Amino acid sequence: MTDTTPAVDLKDAEAEVDLPEIGDRSRYDALMQVIRNRVTVRKFNPDFKVPTEHFEMIIEAARHGPSGANSQPWQFIVVREPAMKQQIAEYFVAEQRFRAKAKMKFPTPDYRGLATAPGFVVVCSDMRWTNAFPVLNDDSALDRSYHENAERILLQSVAAATMSAHLAAAALGYNVWWVTAIGQEEAQDAIRPLLGIPPEISVLDIMLFGPPAAAPYKRWRRPPEEILHWDHYNCEHFMSDAELEDWIKTRRHRVMYKDASKID
Ligand SMILES: Cc1cc2nc3c(=O)[nH]c(=O)nc-3n(C[C@H](O)[C@H](O)[C@H](O)COP(=O)(O)O)c2cc1C
Repeated sequence: MTDTTPAVDLKDAEAEVDLPEIGDRSRYDALMQVIRNRVTVRKFNPDFKVPTEHFEMIIEAARHGPSGANSQPWQFIVVREPAMKQQIAEYFVAEQRFRAKAKMKFPTPDYRGLATAPGFVVVCSDMRWTNAFPVLNDDSALDRSYHENAERILLQSVAAATMSAHLAAAALGYNVWWVTAIGQEEAQDAIRPLLGIPPEISVLDIMLFGPPAAAPYKRWRRPPEEILHWDHYNCEHFMSDAELEDWIKTRRHRVMYKDASKID
């Protein structure tokens, strides 16, 4: 492996930062337009061909994401072969069936849509980067708790980069789909050999994008007052276990999909 880590030239590094005046709304408004219109669809127009340049632009956005210890633990595999997309989709369809059989009561979407995605990117992480954080590596209970946090740091890092990629795709006009149902160890074991992924590398999610097969729709969001706290945790919106359980039972499917009858 070639080491591309450069000696930092502070002057050049400073010159690369170009922020607007504090309070200048123009970039914020443009960014919010992208954020609001990043909308999930679960079936795409399969005939569309994503220009190579768009893949590069999208991964360029991911590359600038922040990461714990600047570890940049992410790797992105663009899958272009329709047969490979189909094979991965089939794994998910089997997972969908398994969930139904196991009565998980999760309104699992139709994963056949995976094979229709013109943009198909498998998002990986090298979790050995946990060693870049404060850990003891002596297998003690303390070490395990620090390792757990280090894993969370890496997952947040990859999620941050992935979000930038999704926003870049939305900025280019695409609908997106973020699929994590691949995370269980067995799922990773099934996917790794298909793409030649070394066993040390974790398969965290798949990013799909493309023009939608049907009109996309905006999903419900909690109002700001339910999530924004000032100076202390406002328990007005704290849900009891029973309320949470009831919400999952009665409302979850309605906020995930268009309505109860239309699971994507
Ligand atoms: C971390 C994360 C994991 C997700 N995993 C899945 C998944 O495995 N399958 C799926 O169909 N959608 C998945 N989604 C998509 C969400 O269901 C979707 O973003 C959410 O319902 C809100 O809809 P919107 O993206 O249109 O705003 C995931 C999204 C995120 C951010």
